[in-house]
Amino acid sequence: MANLQINLGGLVMKNPVTVASGTFGYGQEYNDYFDIARLGAVTTKSLTLKPRAGNKPPRIYETPAGMLNAIGLQNVGLDVYLEQKLPFLRSKGVPIIANIYGHGPEEYAEMARKLEAAGGADAFEANLSCPNVHDARNVKGAALVSQSPELVAEYTKIIRSATKLPLYVKLSPNVANICEPALAAQEGGADAVSLINTLLGMAIDPETRRPRLKNIVGGLSGPAIRPVALKMVWDAARVLKVPIIAMGGICNASDAIQFFLAGATAVAAGCISFRTPDAAAQMVDGIAAYCERHGAADVKELIGAMEL
Ligand SMILES: Cc1cc2nc3c(=O)[nH]c(=O)nc-3n(C[C@H](O)[C@H](O)[C@H](O)COP(=O)(O)O)c2cc1C
Repeated sequence: MANLQINLGGLVMKNPVTVASGTFGYGQEYNDYFDIARLGAVTTKSLTLKPRAGNKPPRIYETPAGMLNAIGLQNVGLDVYLEQKLPFLRSKGVPIIANIYGHGPEEYAEMARKLEAAGGADAFEANLSCPNVHDARNVKGAALVSQSPELVAEYTKIIRSATKLPLYVKLSPNVANICEPALAAQEGGADAVSLINTLLGMAIDPETRRPRLKNIVGGLSGPAIRPVALKMVWDAARVLKVPIIAMGGICNASDAIQFFLAGATAVAAGCISFRTPDAAAQMVDGIAAYCERHGAADVKELIGAMEL
């Protein structure tokens, strides 16, 4: 049996598989389908200081090989997470990557401070790239924080100074050159970079002539975006020193392996969990089987091992 353990910027995970924020709730719902303690880590839905109702429906729409969503960061808020969601997650003993979202860098920092003090996280993933929240727009001219390398560096530095826990920064693919925000996150003190959030997209019903999403625009995820994600991971891996957590259409072990070969250290199952609730667990088994088949004693041998 190959060694699957990795160190993700200071967080030791028994295998390199987690779940993508917003596609796995707070873990409990999925535990009916498989023991979530089998995962290397659980990544929570983006948490905000106060609860959020999210955008008006319809908020999701199925597209060829993917889906559009404009959930708008609906979540229970920090206090309810700590009181009602955290105890179950802690009872499972699985590392928790708390995905956080704030209005401005100080609010992210406050979230990180409070969560760390309450034992609510083992690592943070700062979502600097949600396409579906209107209050995030027009920050110094950037539609998303992660579209401005300067803002990424500034936010990362401020969140970094608020916590000793590993800090990951999640970036948007809606940029010309992913290396710029990725390097800015690293310079700001991120311990890892999460790639990628959803690609901006939309769909219209030709009969009614109305947009399929109430929000008009949403984020595209699923197998449709996998080649884009893979290329961005490959681009970023060649310039970064910190590890990469890959997400974007990863549905099975064979997809996951591609991301390791392109340079990712960990992978996340995203919206595939809606169709195959135990997809992430199957991925763990499939990665172990691949290592066995390819004579790899350690999954880390696969990182950046694409042959040219
Ligand atoms: C319904 C839905 C909700 C999401 N919510 C969040 C979120 O709250 N925070 C976040 O950082 N990413 C969120 N994402 C983005 C995913 O974490 C992931 O980056 C993206 O979906 C690409 O992975 P996939 O193609 O495997 O789904 C969401 C995605 C979907 C489909």
